[in-house]
Amino acid sequence: MTQPLLHVEDAVKRFGGRTALDGAHCSVATGSITGMIGPNGSGKSTLFNCIAGAEALDSGAVYLRGARIDRLAPHAICERGVARTFQLTRLFRDMTVLENLVAVAHTFSDRQAVERAIHAMELLEIPELMHRPAGDLSYGQRKLVEIGRTLMLEPKLMLLDEPFAGINPRLQNRIVGYLQKLRGEGMTLFIIDHEMRIILDVCDSVWVLAEGRIVMNGPPQAVRSDPRVIEAYF
Ligand SMILES: Nc1ncnc2c1ncn2[C@@H]1O[C@H](COP(=O)(O)OP(=O)(O)OP(=O)(O)O)[C@@H](O)[C@H]1O
Ligand SMILES: [Mg+2]
Repeated sequence: MTQPLLHVEDAVKRFGGRTALDGAHCSVATGSITGMIGPNGSGKSTLFNCIAGAEALDSGAVYLRGARIDRLAPHAICERGVARTFQLTRLFRDMTVLENLVAVAHTFSDRQAVERAIHAMELLEIPELMHRPAGDLSYGQRKLVEIGRTLMLEPKLMLLDEPFAGINPRLQNRIVGYLQKLRGEGMTLFIIDHEMRIILDVCDSVWVLAEGRIVMNGPPQAVRSDPRVIEAYF
């Protein structure tokens, strides 16, 4: 079997007495769109936080192309090509969309950062929002800018935490199109979402988390008909 781009092994994470991850594992194949579903509080965002280095695992390991990354600082993980969006967008409200994007790319020259920002806004079909303060945007528009912020880092692996939550089906479908385009350009995507319709539609492989453990993994058609998924989810 070829080496996965991302592999998480036996991840344990506790917050005080609460066990958020209880030996979770998963892998993401290079070039795939991989999904993760699971009930509220099952540990999905915590898993992304641990992959991105924002939280430290209590035990277990995270490998990127076979190399351990779970002891690295968030910026070092980012430099290795892992970028994430947040479940709740974290834009600077008083800054314009362009400024929000450029602010992410502090390692590039100003000119490169602006070029990259324009490229990201074109891909997401929001160039007209460039000079609008982020605080004036609709929730859906902020979600797009949040994706744009991760694109500034030209990641190899993009972690998307609920990109489809709370937005209308038309925008959901637009985002699906952008993600598929990015995958076509060689990016690997790992998506958490509760929107089963989309996850089962766009993902090559889906992981199902319940109470901090993986209860099932497989292609969408297997996940859709699995009794454990039906029990946990429907
Ligand atoms: N920083 C934290 N401090 C304390 N408890 C936390 C923290 N982060 C997460 N938890 C707890 O860990 C568990 C898993 O939370 P997590 O946010 O990972 O779930 P989730 O699967 O992303 O849920 P949702 O679908 O609602 O976003 C929850 O019980 C949550 O309350
Ligand atoms: Mg979450």
